[in-house]
Amino acid sequence: MDRLDGSAHLMIVSDLDFTMVDHLDQDNLGLLRFNAMWEAYYRQDSLLVFSTGRSPTIYKELRKEKPLLTPDISIMSVGTEIMYGESMIRDEDWEQYLNQNWNREIVTEETALFPELTPQSETEQRPHKVSFFVEKIKALKVIRFLSERLEKRGLDVKLIYSNETALDVLPKGAGKGQALAYLLEKFKVDGKMPVNTLVCGDSGNDAELFGVPEVYGVMVSNAQEELLQWHAENAKNNPNIIHATERCAAGIIQAIGNFSLGPNVSPRDIGDFQKCKVEIYNSCHEVVKFYLFYERWRRAEVAKNMQTPNLIFFPLGTFVHPSGVEQPVSHCIDVMARLHGDKQGTDYRIWVDRVSSEQVGSDTWRMKFYKWETFGEERHGCLTTVLLGSKAKVPDGFTWMHMHQTWLEGSEPKDQTTWLF
Ligand code: GLC
Ligand code: MG
Repeated sequence: MDRLDGSAHLMIVSDLDFTMVDHLDQDNLGLLRFNAMWEAYYRQDSLLVFSTGRSPTIYKELRKEKPLLTPDISIMSVGTEIMYGESMIRDEDWEQYLNQNWNREIVTEETALFPELTPQSETEQRPHKVSFFVEKIKALKVIRFLSERLEKRGLDVKLIYSNETALDVLPKGAGKGQALAYLLEKFKVDGKMPVNTLVCGDSGNDAELFGVPEVYGVMVSNAQEELLQWHAENAKNNPNIIHATERCAAGIIQAIGNFSLGPNVSPRDIGDFQKCKVEIYNSCHEVVKFYLFYERWRRAEVAKNMQTPNLIFFPLGTFVHPSGVEQPVSHCIDVMARLHGDKQGTDYRIWVDRVSSEQVGSDTWRMKFYKWETFGEERHGCLTTVLLGSKAKVPDGFTWMHMHQTWLEGSEPKDQTTWLF
């Protein structure tokens, strides 16, 4: 929450399954496009919030399966758990607040009387969330009777139906919308209200997000009927909400452009940076761009005669490989030259996460970021620091001076020599 000194330029609050993550996109291209854009242009002054129905357990599983960035804030279990930062520090005040008029035992007693309700797995039952599966045709009736019964027993609950299968029972004050309203209030008290907030979703439990005052909203093209219906009944005339024509993360990028919330061209959509007319002089963009080039180099998506690596590296620079071995940068360039196309036709991908830039001299920047690579079942990551210098003679303006990498816990390959940088 305190990563930024001032107000966030943009705060994105996005659902994960079928919003940020497209489970039908095997190559995760939509997500990788979003990631490159976020790290190049937004990470420095904006906030990324994931708001998911998943419990922390299966949220962490998704993070291992998909190239997800690290959010600043994670809201899990349909707005009943809020956690901050990479170390995911719980907001205990929020959980205290949800205890009001909530009694989990009564909820389980009452729901047990409904044979139409099939309990979800143990991981998805949380202190302030009791979850079931129920068939679509039975859902409306069950919801009506169940809420009457719970009300009679003195509970203030909220019943949410999502994905045409899942029914969540939560305290009245919980839910994705309430959790967001709570966060916004906290920002306001700190004098750090985000300049713009964009909420993104696809299903029933996201509907509340679109009801939070003064936010922009995007329902991705693949949004579920229940969300579209909620919108038709409650927010049809709100010009700040769109139904994107693009799926999932691509729909989020589309909304950023539609509402003019900032840059909306992913570096991944720029085929040739040398021909790119837009003047981008930004150290974070430089990092994203280099690794994109490197991925394309190994996938043979750029021609072998491109000389970029020689140009951007300082000839006398050093590189500390994550194994601890120090090498001259020139050696790495030679190796890289030989690796052109070695991953051609494969699923080899690279992305960077949590890129930060600190100016340490009049023309020097210290960059810090997590660099990830996936190839088949393998996934490896390094904490990377790079010293960037600026030089007028170099076309894109930056020279990579020194670089240092260390393995992220448990992510080193068996054979460390397979990792270049
Ligand atoms: C996620 C959760 C599940 C919940 C559903 C809808 O799939 O794992 O427990 O019911 O979202 O909110
Ligand atoms: Mg979803």
